[in-house]
Amino acid sequence: MESIPLNQPAYVRNRKLLQWVKETVELCRPDSVYWCDGSQEEYDRLCGEMVESGTFIRLSEEKRPNSFLCRSDPSDVARVEDRTFICSRRRQDAGPTNNWVAPKEMKASLNKLFSGCMRGRTMYVIPFSMGPLGSHISHIGVEISDSPYVVTNMRIMTRMGRAAVELLEEDSDFVPCLHSVGAPLEPGQQDVPWPCNDTKYIVHFPEERSIVSFGSGYGGNALLGKKCFALRIASSMARDEGWLAEHMLILGVESPEGEKDYVAAAFPSACGKTNFAMMIPPDAMEGWKITTIGDDIAWIKPGKDGRLHAINPEFGFFGVAPGTSVKSNPNAMATLYANCIFTNVALTPDGDVWWEDMTKTPPPSLIDWQGKPWTPDCGRPSAHPNARFTSPAHQCPSIDPDWENPEGVPISAFIFGGRRGDTIPLVYQSANWYYGVYLAATMGSEKTAAAAGKIGDVRRDPYAMIPFCGYHMGDYFNHWLQIGRALSSPPRIFGVNWFRKDENGKFLWPGFGENMRVLKWIIGRVHGRAAAVESPLGWMPKYESVDWRGQEEFSREQFSKLMSVDREAWKQELFSHEELLEKLYDKLPKEFTHIRELMLSTLWMSPEHWELAPERYSEQ
Ligand code: GTP
Ligand code: SPV
Ligand code: MN
Repeated sequence: MESIPLNQPAYVRNRKLLQWVKETVELCRPDSVYWCDGSQEEYDRLCGEMVESGTFIRLSEEKRPNSFLCRSDPSDVARVEDRTFICSRRRQDAGPTNNWVAPKEMKASLNKLFSGCMRGRTMYVIPFSMGPLGSHISHIGVEISDSPYVVTNMRIMTRMGRAAVELLEEDSDFVPCLHSVGAPLEPGQQDVPWPCNDTKYIVHFPEERSIVSFGSGYGGNALLGKKCFALRIASSMARDEGWLAEHMLILGVESPEGEKDYVAAAFPSACGKTNFAMMIPPDAMEGWKITTIGDDIAWIKPGKDGRLHAINPEFGFFGVAPGTSVKSNPNAMATLYANCIFTNVALTPDGDVWWEDMTKTPPPSLIDWQGKPWTPDCGRPSAHPNARFTSPAHQCPSIDPDWENPEGVPISAFIFGGRRGDTIPLVYQSANWYYGVYLAATMGSEKTAAAAGKIGDVRRDPYAMIPFCGYHMGDYFNHWLQIGRALSSPPRIFGVNWFRKDENGKFLWPGFGENMRVLKWIIGRVHGRAAAVESPLGWMPKYESVDWRGQEEFSREQFSKLMSVDREAWKQELFSHEELLEKLYDKLPKEFTHIRELMLSTLWMSPEHWELAPERYSEQ
């Protein structure tokens, strides 16, 4: 076998890395090896090459400077949860909510698939840091990939390149992340714009702390620093080391008096994290300000002060494009002004991008996400529902001055929310940490386009982590209980639901910037100044304890509809928790059984004790 030069730069000292690259070259047989330095020059060159090859379309230099459109293969548009595996040595360590295959067996299958899989392609070595370079909370990974699309996205999403690999001493540890689109090229064979393979594997070895991904080039399947490392592998590291790796946004809230709090919120994929993280408060709530630390992932550590401190391990946003507009999320729109990659959105005749609801009136003609002509009356969406933008976080106007603080920011409250058309009220506060853990563990949400599969069904998505937890969910709940026990002042825990609908299917709550009214009440609760009434779910705001300035037409009746706790619906809700909890029975915290029983019995109290009827609001 002819030998392929490894081309390692002199600044690469790590022995494990050099050995791994060597073995991977021998297995995958790429045409050449390229070490990414993370420079602007390198980024520009790769983008140029992808324009040449037809993978990228350069957008208008006036409308969207230094930005590109990319169209994926129509079969490769979202995460593939049924092809995602946690290969711990013991099946019970992965738990019943993860796919599991014995590591040895999985490695044998992967070895076959990877053998010669990079023929005709360049193998890129992509060193990256999750978290600020050198922070004690950060970790280094190295992705090997045969996709230049992955390289350019990783440069936006992580601190990528020479500086990251220079942090590795000769014998330091890092997380190896092997990725291939699984589409080798025969000599002379013409490449396609989006190479991928119908066979897909997204595989994690939590004990080894390594990742292998085959067959997909899209998002969380291929940008391995994100879900694979920062959530699945990191959650398992976090359990061993006493911290938390969560599917959470982090935002800062500043009051008119200058009091500053940080909150972290877990909503499932495509359920409003990016919007909430960048929210602009209504004009009438003068003096309130929101700043953004992160929109998708939080790494959270207990500090010496008895509080939890969080960092955003990412460097960019990989956000859902459809629905993003100057009206729904002006800060996101401003972030996208330049230097972005857009995947599976529509192209306008003047070389800009468009997606559903970006503007009220769609442009008269577009090229859709599959490259076909599109008109508003053609009956198809112009962008794929899971179309995404990749944008540098520092371009966000609301980015927090401390977003790269290596110490993280102290968390005052956790918020959990799913997409639920019924049953779940706008906001409620758990009685204490234990009830909060139960709330988060039994959270449900309607499925969205972020993952392949049927959209709309309610599934239990504990902590918005069901697709992302690298170990047994029962152990995960116990870990959360344990973390809380050790804190002198644990964050308060809240549930929210922006998505409740009326009998005509219309949202009961305007959402977006208006969510600031809910957040203000939450901050008020944290500081012990906002009033609340008791309910079977915990504490809830009265109509009077919400700031309605600028939204006076939102009536008491509308509010009580939005807040109502229907006994029959909640009986069903609590019964439906059983389905998940029963699955996890071997590791379920004993607290859960009692909390569920207590909540059920509270529902049987006389309604006058708790029913949130309009009269009751006016009484208190
Ligand atoms: P991932 O990046 O997939 O983890 O998701 P995310 O939680 O960041 O999703 P994102 O914020 O991009 O959610 C997008 C979807 O949520 C769009 O369909 C929005 O219209 C919808 N959305 C966001 N905030 C609100 C809200 O306050 N009310 C309503 N009704 N919809 C909202
Ligand atoms: C999600 O699905 O929760 C995402 C997008 O944030 S992806 O990175 O593709 O997983
Ligand atoms: Mn996400």
